[in-house]
Amino acid sequence: MPAYRPPQIPMSEVTPREIYLSRRSFMGSATAAGLAISGAGSAFAAPLMAKSSDYKVSDKLTPKEAITTYNNFYEFGVNKEDPSQNAGAFKTTPWSVKVDGLVGKPKEFGLEELMKMPLEDRTYRMRCVEGWSMVIPWVGFPLVALLNQVEPLGSAKYVSFETVVRPEEMPGQKGLFQALPWPYVEGLRLDEALHPLTLLAVGLYGETLPNQNGAPIRLVVPWKYGFKGIKSIVKISLTEKQPETTWKNSNAREYGFYSNVNPAVDHPRWSQATEQRIGEGGFFGGNRKPTLPFNGYADQVASLYAGMDLKANY
Ligand code: MTE
Repeated sequence: MPAYRPPQIPMSEVTPREIYLSRRSFMGSATAAGLAISGAGSAFAAPLMAKSSDYKVSDKLTPKEAITTYNNFYEFGVNKEDPSQNAGAFKTTPWSVKVDGLVGKPKEFGLEELMKMPLEDRTYRMRCVEGWSMVIPWVGFPLVALLNQVEPLGSAKYVSFETVVRPEEMPGQKGLFQALPWPYVEGLRLDEALHPLTLLAVGLYGETLPNQNGAPIRLVVPWKYGFKGIKSIVKISLTEKQPETTWKNSNAREYGFYSNVNPAVDHPRWSQATEQRIGEGGFFGGNRKPTLPFNGYADQVASLYAGMDLKANY
């Protein structure tokens, strides 16, 4: 297994830890979760409130070594060890994220500005569609904080996300064999995007996000399968139509738009009833645990899907 490579910019150079920690305690979970949707013409409800306990789990953290060497990031290769081995030269500065579409105030956010958002430490259970899981201490800010700044219009129903295309730095984007069409794209329904659990992560284990985990900024939606967590985002658009998503486009029968973690809905080729926590009971086997509906976040998010057939909307 390759050695863990320290991230390119230490978090201390972007936001000193005391500052982001004090900002975080100043913000408090209620404020962070209750960020109001501002802007005239916003026709949707304020996001649901979340308790600070929603951002903590009693589960043992997955070791940093495993989180940073067992990755899916096909732009750097299709094997789990490829991203940690091939992403070292990926340049994450300068960087900006363009936010446009059905918004009152479209804006391109520079990385420095994003790093000044109210950063929080949030530990989430993560479940990959392939059947493995991790417990990851992210550093990030709620997506709703960013969306508030661009003032979504009442006509916005969905949010789409796009990863950078940079074949000269991403070996998986060039050559004869390309695993997926680029850019990698993902999407959420607007209410999912506004939910306080939905995070834009810029770090993990209190440090700047390693390249292989989606530096400099990636999406984290803990109640959905891992492929919804699009990495190295350069564009976010608010749309009226349901956005294209990479895995649904490549195999709609196996990967749906919603992709909520659901032990009762099998993947066409395997069961989703149990999962292997990476780093526990051996790296690859034994000690599987039951997968929980919405990955254990049902209390917070099940109401978003009230009345929906979750077998049809997988
Ligand atoms: N984002 C991009 N741009 N490219 C990818 O291949 N893989 C997805 C998701 N985001 C992927 C991506 C999948 S399948 C998973 S499980 C998670 O990233 C893995 O995130 P991690 O490596 O931080 O655990």
